[in-house]
Amino acid sequence: MFTYFEFDEIPSTNEWLKERASDLNHGAVCHALSQSHGRGRGGNKWLSTKGNLYCSLLLKPNHKMSLGMAGLVSFVTSLALYDVLETYIGPSHEITLKWPNDVLIDGAKVSGILLETEKALSGNSTAYLVVGFGVNVEYAPEINDKKTICLKDALTTNSDINLITLRDQILNKIMTYFDLFLTRGFSPIRNVWIEKCAFIGQDIRIRTNQEVFTACFETIDEKGLLIAKMSDGTIKEISSAEVFF
Ligand code: BTN
Repeated sequence: MFTYFEFDEIPSTNEWLKERASDLNHGAVCHALSQSHGRGRGGNKWLSTKGNLYCSLLLKPNHKMSLGMAGLVSFVTSLALYDVLETYIGPSHEITLKWPNDVLIDGAKVSGILLETEKALSGNSTAYLVVGFGVNVEYAPEINDKKTICLKDALTTNSDINLITLRDQILNKIMTYFDLFLTRGFSPIRNVWIEKCAFIGQDIRIRTNQEVFTACFETIDEKGLLIAKMSDGTIKEISSAEVFF
């Protein structure tokens, strides 16, 4: 199911796959032990020195998928990360999901997802998706505004984490959830995602490009939008923001 391309160091595993996407098949995987120009969401850098996991997966939907649908694959991926990372952590630690696609342990970010999609030449469908994920395994890099943690600090026992085993567990889970998403749509993914999100029903701070405000995190809708209820009862649909709690 997977074809692996493994490197000691490259600029970015997402970039590597994107540059070769037209020649590679669904299931191509690029894994690097370090990245010289690791990329995060919103144009941020993703510090990528040896010890953590840096991996990207190429997905080529075999039937038409709108770009909107393709964007929901970040939720598919965060669920996969949640499921796998949960099996590693000890009982005194808590794992949760944070909108749009962070996985948190004890309220601190342990992994990040960068989903990049390419439009097909004809029509409005998706030619391919590159799903990049980074997991803080050995160390927790500092990120502005965010608490971070590494998996090693939340383990059940003091055992070592094998990066290849961890990578393959995550890739298999992504494929399982992606197949569910293709056959049954976003609804089952959304339901499970909502269950695992810690902040639903609570007041959160929301920072969009235009404003910062407090509102109640009602739910996520079928397009993955954050539905926020303002104190005057009005509803806002948020497509892109940072949330704080
Ligand atoms: C985020 O900002 O939360 C997303 C971080 C995504 C980092 C991963 S590491 C593997 C892949 N290659 C990249 O350059 N970025 C993603």
